[in-house]
Amino acid sequence: MKLHYSTRLGELYQADCLALLHSIPSGTVDTFFADPPFNLKKDYGSQGSDNIPDSDYLKWCEAWLAEGVRVLTAGGAFFTYNLPKWLMPQGTFLSSIPGMTFKHWIAVDKAHSLPITNRLSTSHYGMLYFIKGDKPRVFDRDAVRIPIQVCRHCGRDVKDYGGHKKFLNPKGLNLSDVWDDIPPVRHKRYKNRPANQLAPVILERVIRLTTKPNDLVCDPFAGAGTTAYVAEKLGRRWITGEINDPEPTRLRLEEIANGTDPGWRSSKKRIMTQSASHVCEPSGSLFADASL
Ligand SMILES: C[S@@+](CC[C@H](N)C(=O)[O-])C[C@H]1O[C@@H](n2cnc3c(N)ncnc32)[C@H](O)[C@@H]1O
Repeated sequence: MKLHYSTRLGELYQADCLALLHSIPSGTVDTFFADPPFNLKKDYGSQGSDNIPDSDYLKWCEAWLAEGVRVLTAGGAFFTYNLPKWLMPQGTFLSSIPGMTFKHWIAVDKAHSLPITNRLSTSHYGMLYFIKGDKPRVFDRDAVRIPIQVCRHCGRDVKDYGGHKKFLNPKGLNLSDVWDDIPPVRHKRYKNRPANQLAPVILERVIRLTTKPNDLVCDPFAGAGTTAYVAEKLGRRWITGEINDPEPTRLRLEEIANGTDPGWRSSKKRIMTQSASHVCEPSGSLFADASL
């Protein structure tokens, strides 16, 4: 385990996830976030395999999940991002750890899903959200409100609030457990390495919802460093490790230091299509044909 880069707020290690976690004292991390390899035969570099027997994968996950729980502070938030297939056993495992409380299964909608023989198309990733104990130390719903959604064609509300719009919080809608407004990270200005990386807005929500400035966020699978990047931008302390090349994370953090990082768009969802509760008149309607 080798320190690769640090800032006033955080430390980036080239490290195996377990070595990194073993080095962290118990009860010191305010929010733990993990986006591990999904055992889908992806090539992340020469270290670590993404193609191992299912039972070995689950055993490996249980080892770092348990360590993630150990390092978490009382009331701290625990997030793990994966395919539903792996989140089911991981959720059962986390629930079996005394004191861990399930909060949510967050569905993160995928922009595209491919047809798969004899299966429904997989259209979401999942994120388990647990807390250590039964009371969250931070749950700042106001920090992650969603702007009220307006049709970009006609400017009217997309959602039908059933006459209750006046009771809505003017700061925005409550964040729900379905996140269907997450943009894929494709453009080369925003993509820091060829392998997959998460949209910063996912980490923005995780961090704003569950931490205060200067709290400590830990991510043992840095990848392109999205967690460290967002934590640094939001003034949270962070610790992260990557078993393969940590350079994409360092470069991203250096962009913050130089003032050249591209930032990201927080949720500003503007619905462009029709929905069951909104039919846009000026541009015509999907349902305009009376024969439908
Ligand atoms: C899905 S990616 C994380 C992407 C990251 N969330 C982002 O937004 O850029 C998983 C990363 O875990 C790394 N990895 C695999 N095995 C590891 C291990 N044992 N310890 C630490 N990192 C590991 C892989 O090299 C890969 O970069």
